[in-house]
Amino acid sequence: MGNGEFTKKILCIGAGYVGGPTMAVIAAKCPQYKITVVDINAARINAWNSDDLPIYEPGLYDVVKQARGRNLFFSTEIDPAIAEADIIFVSVNTPTKSFGEGAGYAADLQYWELTARNIVKVATSDKIIIEKSTLPVRTAEAMSRILNANEKGIKFEVLSNPEFLAEGTAIEDLNNPDRVLIGSQQTPAGIKARDEVVEIYANWVPKEKIVTSNVWSAELSKLVANAFLAQRISSINSISALCEKTEADVTEVSRTIGMDTRIGNRFLMSSVGFGGSCFKKDILNLVYICQSYGLTEVADYWESVVEMNEYQKRRFVRNMLSAMFNTVAGKRIALLGFAFKADTGDTRETPALDVAQQLLDEHAKVVISDPKALDNAKIDLKDYADRLEFVVDPYEAARGAHAIAVLTEWKEYKTLDYKKIFDSMERPSFIFDGRNILNHQELFKIGFNVFPLGQPSFKHY
Ligand code: NAD
Ligand code: UGA
Repeated sequence: MGNGEFTKKILCIGAGYVGGPTMAVIAAKCPQYKITVVDINAARINAWNSDDLPIYEPGLYDVVKQARGRNLFFSTEIDPAIAEADIIFVSVNTPTKSFGEGAGYAADLQYWELTARNIVKVATSDKIIIEKSTLPVRTAEAMSRILNANEKGIKFEVLSNPEFLAEGTAIEDLNNPDRVLIGSQQTPAGIKARDEVVEIYANWVPKEKIVTSNVWSAELSKLVANAFLAQRISSINSISALCEKTEADVTEVSRTIGMDTRIGNRFLMSSVGFGGSCFKKDILNLVYICQSYGLTEVADYWESVVEMNEYQKRRFVRNMLSAMFNTVAGKRIALLGFAFKADTGDTRETPALDVAQQLLDEHAKVVISDPKALDNAKIDLKDYADRLEFVVDPYEAARGAHAIAVLTEWKEYKTLDYKKIFDSMERPSFIFDGRNILNHQELFKIGFNVFPLGQPSFKHY
C-alpha cells in the first residue's frame, strides 16, 4: 500500500512503555492505517527501529516486526508527522510535579502542554487529539482551550482514551482488553470524533467492550482504576503485618476472601510493596485533585494507600534486620529481582530500590541480581556504585551471602537449586521471600531460616 492509500493517518507522540506497544498492536491489527510514533528521544526511536527494542515486553518484538516498515513507523521528525495526521494520540510522560504548587502530588503537565502547543503551531487541518497519557480530571478542558485558541480556523476535538495495560502483559492486555474507554464531549463534533476512535478499536475489540463516556468520567476512571488496584494491595499488605503477629497466614486469608465473587481473587498477593511508574503517581494526583476541591477526608483516605505501601517496604527491611540479630553491617545480602514486577525490565518506583537503599544505609554489602533489569538498576543506584555488585547469575549473587531476599516474582526464582545456593552461603543462612513464591518448608529442610511475608517464619535457632 502506498502512503496515499492508507485510510487513516494516526500519529502517537511519545514512544514509551505505552506509546510503543499500543501503536504496534494497532498497526498489526489494522494494516489499512498508517501509524507513526514519534519521540524527542532519538536513542529511543533508534532502538524502536532496531532488533534491540528499548523496552522488554513479552511478545512485543513479534508484533513490531510484523508491522514495522509496512504501516508502522518510528521517527524523530515530529512536525511533518503532526501535519499529515488525522488522529493524534499523545502518550508523553506525566510524572509527579517536583517543584512549585502541588510539588510531590500534582501531575507535571509540562510535556503534555508543550506537545499541544506544538500541534497548534504545525497543524494545517482539523484533528482529533487523544489523551492517552494519564491526566488529572478536566485536563481535556485546558488542552481544548490551548488547541482551539489558534487563529488558523483549525478545529481540534480532544478525547480521553486512557490506557489500562499492565507491563509484563502489555501485548496480551492490548490484544484482549477488559475494556477500551473513550471519553468525549457530548456535542455532535465530540460524538463524531468518538465514533472515529471507536472504529479503530472495533477492528479487533468486541463492540460491547468499547465503552464510551463523557470526557471527565474517562479521565477520572483511569485514576480511580489505579487507585482501587493499589488499594487492594495495600489492604492485603496491611493484613500481612497482622498475620505475622498472630500466626495467621496471609496466603490463606487471600485465598479465602478471594473466593467471594464480590471481592474476586486478583490483586490480593501480599508483597514487599507495589511499584511501577503509575500507582503512586496517580494516587497522589488523585489526592491533590481532592485537596484542591477541599475534599480533605477523601484526599486523606486515598493517601493512606500510599502510606501503607511505604510502611510495607520499611517493615520488610526491619524484619530482615531483626531476624539477622539487629545488624547487617558488613554482611553480604543478595537481592533476587530488581524490576518492579516480573516480565519487565522497568524499575520505576520498584520496592527493590527502597530495600537496597535501606540495606546500604545499614552498611550491608548488597548484591543485585535480575534477568532483565540490571541496566536500569545500575542507573537507579549510580550514587552507590562503589558499594554494590550487579550480578546476572543468581547463584553467583548468593555465593558467600548471609541472606537472600526475593523482591521480584520472576518464575526462574521458584526453581533455582536452593540446596546448591545454601551450600555456598554463610551460616546461619537466611531467606526473605518478599513475594511469597518459594516453597518455604523445603527451604527450611535444606537448612535456611525462612521468612515469608504474612506467614509464620521457620527458624533453626
Ligand atoms: P515513558 O516515559 O516510557 O514514555 C514517554 C515518552 O514521551 C518518552 O519517551 C519521552 O521522551 C516522550 N516525550 C516527552 N515529551 C515529548 C514531546 N514533547 N514530544 C515527543 N515525545 C515526548 O512513559 P510511559 O510509561 O509510556 O507513560 C506515558 C503515559 O501513559 C503516562 O501518563 C502514564 O501515566 C500513562 N500510562 C502508563 C502505563 C505503563 O504501564 N507504563 C500504563 C497506562 C498508562
Ligand atoms: C498498573 C495497572 O495494573 C494497569 O491497569 C495500568 O494501566 C498501569 O498500572 C498504569 O497506569 O501504569 P503495572 O503498574 O504495569 O500496571 O503493573 P501491575 O500488574 O498493576 O503491578 C503493579 C505493582 O503491584 C507491581 O509492583 C506488582 O508486583 C504489585 N502487585 C500486583 C502486588 O504486590 N500484588 C498483587 O496482587 C498485584
